[in-house]
Amino acid sequence: MDFQLAGKRALVTGSSSGLGAAIAKLLAAEGADLVIHGRDEARAAVVAKSIRETGAAATLAIASLDTDAGADLVATAALGDGPVDILVNNVGVFDMQKSWTTTTPADWADLYNVNVISSVRLIQRLVPAMRERGWGRVIQIGSVTGSLPSASQPHYNATNAARENLSQSLARELRESGVTSNTVAPGGILTDAIKDMLFGFGKANNMGETWEEIEPNVVRALGPNDVGRVARPEEIAAAVAYLASPAANYLTGATLRLDGGWYVQPVHDNS
Ligand SMILES: NC(=O)c1ccc[n+]([C@@H]2O[C@H](COP(=O)([O-])OP(=O)(O)OC[C@H]3O[C@@H](n4cnc5c(N)ncnc54)[C@H](OP(=O)(O)O)[C@@H]3O)[C@@H](O)[C@H]2O)c1
Repeated sequence: MDFQLAGKRALVTGSSSGLGAAIAKLLAAEGADLVIHGRDEARAAVVAKSIRETGAAATLAIASLDTDAGADLVATAALGDGPVDILVNNVGVFDMQKSWTTTTPADWADLYNVNVISSVRLIQRLVPAMRERGWGRVIQIGSVTGSLPSASQPHYNATNAARENLSQSLARELRESGVTSNTVAPGGILTDAIKDMLFGFGKANNMGETWEEIEPNVVRALGPNDVGRVARPEEIAAAVAYLASPAANYLTGATLRLDGGWYVQPVHDNS
């Protein structure tokens, strides 16, 4: 499908690796000019170079989004070559080892700052100009755990509920402006880091030797879903490209749960 993104400029936060890199590459393949963001300039440069090698445009915006000063740097760099039409707030941190007993109030506050307020900082800096131009896209990356939380990493689950909630509030704020605000809420995504983690878990629990053997078993154990596997980053990126496109002009205030039919396994379900 042609998502008609030629002539649009997109900033994808956290696009130096993982899902963000996949989103940036697909938006570029669909015609958008890209701003690649991360804290690690070398890693971001690798993604930008791979995009430029396809003939698309890609520049860098490097800074942490933990602070207002960092967000100023990112917004200034992103606007250096023209207006930003598409903002994908993808930066997010999680730690599956954390639980109700091991998260401190400071952990909750720190994660809220990175996963939620970093998005707000960029929305406040970039969206007013989209509104003035009468077209724009704000896309939050959240997680299915925002609406179907498990017991683990409760602070992360809560930030995903907040991401979804602020996205709906922003859609109301931007009513009749031509700027839409939506959330994509994935289940598990097969980034390199997640694959290493799941492979290690599967091996340690005798779930198989190869990834092909381990994947269905580890999914049943840790994140059961109807499709029976983890999403590929490109599958999530495709939903973002659709939301970014003019084909989605009528879609705002929505959450697109892209989770393979994720369900929370009841504790006593031995099936
Ligand atoms: N992976 C999954 O299974 C999964 C599932 C559901 C939802 N998600 C969501 O998808 C998003 C991406 O996840 P991912 O697994 O692709 O993550 P990732 O590979 O760890 O990438 C995170 C990105 O965010 C950047 N980043 C982290 N903290 C930052 C900060 N304080 N300021 C600025 N940049 C920062 C990193 O930049 P540098 O490394 O350059 O610093 C990196 O580019 C997250 O919002 C996550 O919650 C992921």
